[in-house]
Amino acid sequence: MNLLYLIPIFVSLATAIWPLPTEYEHGDAILWIRRDIRLYWDGAGHVDSLTYHGDPDSYAKRQHYSDDDDYEDVDDDAKRGAPNTTPTGNDLINFALRQTWRTIFRQNFFPWKLHPRDWEEPEFDREESSSVHSLTLSLLKNDPEGVAKPLAGEVDESYTVDLPKDGHAKITANSSVGILRGLNSFTQLFFANSDGKGIYTPFAPATIFDAPKFQHRGINLDVSRNYFPVSDVKRMIDAAAYVKMNRFHLHATDGQSWPLEIPSLPNLAKKGAYRPELIYTVQDFRELQRYATLRGVEFITEVDMPGHTSSIHHAYPDLIVAFNKQPDWNNWAAEPPSGTLKLNSSAVNDFLKTLFEDLLPRVHPYSSYFHTGGDEVNKNAYKLDDTVRSSDPAILQPLMQEFIDRIHGHVRSQGLTPIVWEEMLLEWNLKLGDDVIVQTWRSNEAVAQTVAKGHKALVGNYKYWYLDCGKGQWLDFAPLISSQHWPYNDYCYPFHNWRLIYSYDPLAGIPPESHHLILGGEAHMWSEQTDPVNLDRMVWPRAAAVAEILWSGAKDTEGRNRSQIEASPRLSEMRERLVARGVGAEPVQMPYCTMEGEVCQLGLVY
Ligand SMILES: *[C@@H]1O[C@H](CO)[C@@H](O)[C@H](O)[C@H]1NC(C)=O
Ligand SMILES: *[C@@H]1O[C@H](CO)[C@@H](O)[C@H](O)[C@H]1NC(C)=O
Ligand SMILES: *[C@@H]1O[C@H](CO)[C@@H](O)[C@H](O)[C@H]1NC(C)=O
Repeated sequence: MNLLYLIPIFVSLATAIWPLPTEYEHGDAILWIRRDIRLYWDGAGHVDSLTYHGDPDSYAKRQHYSDDDDYEDVDDDAKRGAPNTTPTGNDLINFALRQTWRTIFRQNFFPWKLHPRDWEEPEFDREESSSVHSLTLSLLKNDPEGVAKPLAGEVDESYTVDLPKDGHAKITANSSVGILRGLNSFTQLFFANSDGKGIYTPFAPATIFDAPKFQHRGINLDVSRNYFPVSDVKRMIDAAAYVKMNRFHLHATDGQSWPLEIPSLPNLAKKGAYRPELIYTVQDFRELQRYATLRGVEFITEVDMPGHTSSIHHAYPDLIVAFNKQPDWNNWAAEPPSGTLKLNSSAVNDFLKTLFEDLLPRVHPYSSYFHTGGDEVNKNAYKLDDTVRSSDPAILQPLMQEFIDRIHGHVRSQGLTPIVWEEMLLEWNLKLGDDVIVQTWRSNEAVAQTVAKGHKALVGNYKYWYLDCGKGQWLDFAPLISSQHWPYNDYCYPFHNWRLIYSYDPLAGIPPESHHLILGGEAHMWSEQTDPVNLDRMVWPRAAAVAEILWSGAKDTEGRNRSQIEASPRLSEMRERLVARGVGAEPVQMPYCTMEGEVCQLGLVY
């Protein structure tokens, strides 16, 4: 006997799905999902080779998966793609179907932590139990041209999921990326049995309508302060996609190392990386971008300039001024090693032209954006610059304007849209093109000032969304001044736990008429104290809290701040799902809290 009533989501505890969908209703009937589930795909408009209108069986045969298939090769799709071709919507869906099957059947988890000790887990009964037999995907519209590498707002990511009790499930969306998001939510309706024999949903019938609040939902990973192998970066991208993030920002270079191979400037990475082998080759870079794109995640590469560039010195010493000033590096840069690109140098211009002509055509197939950095430029350093010899802002500002105009000219000429850090607009008062997106980080006021100037903004206030904070200092203090710095807090302590992250509203203090200029935001993983050993724990599940604020918004349907009491069981569940995918995410709460329901709350609920 199955009870068939719909319960509002706030009542039940483990209701799955992170980030929270716009509308989501479910019952509590059990459906088992068949390993030979048939997958049908109705394309929109024009019929292409992977669309089987009216003849689903022929397609079903091709999309009939089993345990015999080699699912480990799923990730190799990233390698197999033809060099430098943009994946199509069909590529995305084809990949997502295989990924969905693998997620449900190979990367699921037994949810004992989400139920009390006396819970009786569902048991499969050959006679009585109902099953999910088929899943039909319906693409309602033709994909826009840039579906795999859109500008913010170009792709409609909304979707519906319908999982009726008869076991014939359906996902609809207006774009292939919407289908991906729907498949993602679909996988989160299922759990594994302890005996390993069955996968079921306890939520039938379920209906979801969902759409993101913000268009740009990303993670920024710094791979210069520490190097991360390709497999680590891929795991971050995969996890980001699983919480419906749609941007992956690679802070590819900085003062400490230059790990990005640029064939036309061969010494740059060879000498600028920490070790010649700790680099991202042309092949690695392509593979990472394609890996992200296939998951509906647009890859955004940043080459920070003109500051944060001292690693260029190792190959091109003449381009950098104030290199590695010691011990007073703090007069010349925000972090050691100091050093910045000369501001009025034709040699620098030639270098950058070569760099961009090499790199940008390799970015273009996978992205509509390129990030030119621009944070924390030290004016003092230009006193030592023989092409300027001044730290006077009145002299530097026009040179910086020319510098940025020139590099943004390169970016645009390759069909890409520039992104810059907020200092270029708010500190240097540069005139930026209307197309330029400004990434803010220093305060909520910076967001307000950016949109007041009519620019599109990304949020990510460091007091909330910097994941590096709270580990303490990495600087060593001399004995004479050490006691002044005790207990050695870092610049942005304390540690930003997920609740703090979750309390951040991207729209705080922004007048409603400017809300459309807030494209979204990013969680930032600066890696001074993060390397492959602790990467997963530093990023997950906290970045998932960012993902929900950006997908679902900071306010609930009543306009109130989102409740931690509602969120924490779902985040705990998402943490289990991430662990099941091979991501070393930290626990959210002890099992006592998640098993017993609302026993770890403090204070009255509204
Ligand atoms: C698709 O677009 C239509 C408007 O054209 C909209 O009403 C609908 O909510 C969108 N999303 C889905 C999943 O149908
Ligand atoms: C920039 O360089 C040009 C050409 O070398 C020079 O004429 C000009 O004076 C420089 N500008 C400044 C502000 O130093
Ligand atoms: C809601 O959250 C904001 C921070 O985003 C906080 O300033 C405000 O006090 C909260 N409102 C309530 C009613 O708790």
